[in-house]
Amino acid sequence: MPESKDAHHISLYSRASNCFDKPHAGEDVLHQKAEHFQKLFHVSDEQLRDITDRFVGVLREGLEHEKQTVPMLPTFVFGWPTGKEKGDYLSLDLGGTNLRVCLVELKGNGKFEITQSKFRITSEQKHEDGQKLFDFCAQCVKDFVENHYGSCALHENLSLGFTFSYPIVQHAIDHGELIRWTKGFGNPNTEGHDCAAMLREALKRHEVPVVLSSIINDTTGTLIASNYVEPDTKIACIFGTGCNAAYMEHVSEIPKIAHLHLPQDEDMAINCEYGAFDSFEHKHLHDVRTKYDEYIDLHSNKPHEQAYEKMIAGLYLGEIFRLVLCDLVDDGVLFLGQETYKIEKPFSFDTAFLSLIETDPTDELLTVMGLFKYFFALETEYNERIFFRELSRAIGTRSARLSACGIAAIVKKMDYLDAGCTVGCDGSLYSKYPNFADRVHHSLEAILGPKGRNIKTRQAEDGSGAGSAVIAAMTKSRKEKGIYKNL
Ligand code: BGC
Repeated sequence: MPESKDAHHISLYSRASNCFDKPHAGEDVLHQKAEHFQKLFHVSDEQLRDITDRFVGVLREGLEHEKQTVPMLPTFVFGWPTGKEKGDYLSLDLGGTNLRVCLVELKGNGKFEITQSKFRITSEQKHEDGQKLFDFCAQCVKDFVENHYGSCALHENLSLGFTFSYPIVQHAIDHGELIRWTKGFGNPNTEGHDCAAMLREALKRHEVPVVLSSIINDTTGTLIASNYVEPDTKIACIFGTGCNAAYMEHVSEIPKIAHLHLPQDEDMAINCEYGAFDSFEHKHLHDVRTKYDEYIDLHSNKPHEQAYEKMIAGLYLGEIFRLVLCDLVDDGVLFLGQETYKIEKPFSFDTAFLSLIETDPTDELLTVMGLFKYFFALETEYNERIFFRELSRAIGTRSARLSACGIAAIVKKMDYLDAGCTVGCDGSLYSKYPNFADRVHHSLEAILGPKGRNIKTRQAEDGSGAGSAVIAAMTKSRKEKGIYKNL
């Protein structure tokens, strides 16, 4: 065993060694490996600034032209809510992991109440025919309506907002053609189709007494819900299974919709779909893309797509970690003499495990020990567990630092730095991953300088529930006033 300079370290190490009488990796080797991976996943301040500047250019291109890699999608959500929107609205949220049906009661004054039912989406459902997936959605809405209103409600028509968290091209608020599936979905016969129409047909077939009034992205919902409650919110981001942002843009800055002849002083929310940043040509993140990112990309159901998302989002961080471990198993550095087939299974290492590893409160990292034992039938040495913590930090920190580039790019594009603004954030990484928000804040300062402190993030309101309801209310009021009635 190599000699340690740290006495406390030695004693823990030998205790663990006595427990498990098996060969183990030397401490020095793992120290070196930890340093190697810290460097590999490190993104310098200078790189962050360079990536941000490129990002700003890419956002502008998306506003100018159709069919750009980062498509900057017009949402037909016009301007901010007043905060006074009221009424009961249903919403259906098809996210990356769950399907949710909600009844939202908007009470005005930025207040609301939500009643909801949640269903987990199975991996089979992510790949069955699109219409079948929408049939399942319709059935869930029907059950919810019957449970909450009884079957007498089947004579009334309720307004349903559909939060569909994938890139869609819209020509109106109640229309949306899917550009491509993301987050591991791959349902055939859906890309290129109007998903609002597909859901509408399914609702009709299942005789659900609702009117589909809008189809929105989760970021757009989050933007509007957060602004409804906290009017200083100008940007919304999701850092969850996938990643993305929305913000409010001046129509005059969206040349690609000039043909709609909207007043130039009008504002419209833009769903950036910036998880697609650096897709296809991989020229902006080239210096920070590792062989693990490339492996995940090439082995996904959508190679070369969502390149930025695959480096930072919750669906992928655990997998990056697992791939590093598999490399070290092959190199004979980790889990010597043990059966490793469980950890060799793709996507078996949940990103939530990285959170647990980073926050293990025990000196001997017993949570980490239990995690590997329980889920992967692997015994771990103390020095291995220390290594896992370092590796989690490196991967989690890279995610947060790169995440800051997208926010900083919007801030720069919109000139929000001097006045400052709030960024409403949601998603499991933001709300559950330790230090994620702090790391984002530090990186914003590294990119934008001391004024970066003017940009604050906060836990957003429920975008796909409350946001969808507020948008339904705004749309209803706009249409009643005869404003852009066909949009
Ligand atoms: C989707 C976006 C969505 C984001 C967060 C991405 O994969 O393309 O539409 O907003 O995930 O859910």
